[in-house]
Amino acid sequence: MFPKIRPRRLRGSQPLRDIVAETHLSVNDLVYPIFVKEGPTNPIKSMPGQYQHSLDDIGSVAVKAQEAGIKSLLLFGIPKYKDSMATSAFEQDGVVQKGVKAIKDEADDIFVMTDVCTCQYTNSGHCGIVDNGKVINDKSLPILSKIALSHVKAGADAVAPSDMLDGRVGAIRKTLDDNSYNDIPIVSYAAKYASSYYGPFREACNSAPQHGDRKTYQMDYHNAREALKEIELDIAEGADIVMVKPALCYLDIICKVKEATNIPVMAYNVSGEYAMIKHAGAAGLVDERSMVLETLTSIKRAGADIIATYFALDYAGDLI
Ligand code: PBG
Ligand code: ZN
Repeated sequence: MFPKIRPRRLRGSQPLRDIVAETHLSVNDLVYPIFVKEGPTNPIKSMPGQYQHSLDDIGSVAVKAQEAGIKSLLLFGIPKYKDSMATSAFEQDGVVQKGVKAIKDEADDIFVMTDVCTCQYTNSGHCGIVDNGKVINDKSLPILSKIALSHVKAGADAVAPSDMLDGRVGAIRKTLDDNSYNDIPIVSYAAKYASSYYGPFREACNSAPQHGDRKTYQMDYHNAREALKEIELDIAEGADIVMVKPALCYLDIICKVKEATNIPVMAYNVSGEYAMIKHAGAAGLVDERSMVLETLTSIKRAGADIIATYFALDYAGDLI
């Protein structure tokens, strides 16, 4: 029988495809992760096109992002020194604190989230304080809270704890509230998996664990329902936005989290996902531009309201 229904009828031209498209990627969806470091600007070898920016340069990066229409940055720091208590993470003249000020001085209209963790700032390279070879959960919470408070005092618009320790959203919320910062949102890395896709980032930040791995605090990739438990807990503790990380192997998680919550869902298109496309593009194996747009759209289609991606600056112009 000749088909009455022909799906191809709705694919006949670009304007038609545009009006029936179910998902629209916008520059408003994007958050641009950037790195600030003490000392001179350095290219990051593992992430072609990304830099460890000096304090002198970071403001102009923010200006460029703002001019490209990007609404938000996610700031990571590479500090002067490391110790056992992550002191360089919460000093008021630490690299992130100075970086936030530099950004705010030059680009007054961009929303600055700061990554809150200890791994770049401790000798152990772990996302918490280590005693006898173990990450001690409850001893780490006051440190994470101090880091968050110092960022906000420096002018951060939101804090994004990425440690995956238990109870840290509640601890940070209480510290911010006790200091009259009750209007500062917490963007929680709520379902963050122990992933090999973070490899290039650890080189970028010099933050690889010096012993063991992160499997005692980051999630096991065999688990999906557990992500909902993490999300529920973080929301109960006061998270304003929840994040799923990485994005591409975890589109099912993004989808489940979106259905289970009524707060914004963010997904992090991480360093390994970035590097794979960059290298395949440079090798002439794929067309970078079309692969990036397909990839970011798939993350949005899965349910992400916000996407953190290193591609943000290069592709903002395609999305306005
Ligand atoms: C550290 C942190 C990591 C990322 C963001 N914050 C790496 C890790 O957990 O080892 C990953 C970002 C990326 O790969 O792009 N708390
Ligand atoms: Zn960490």
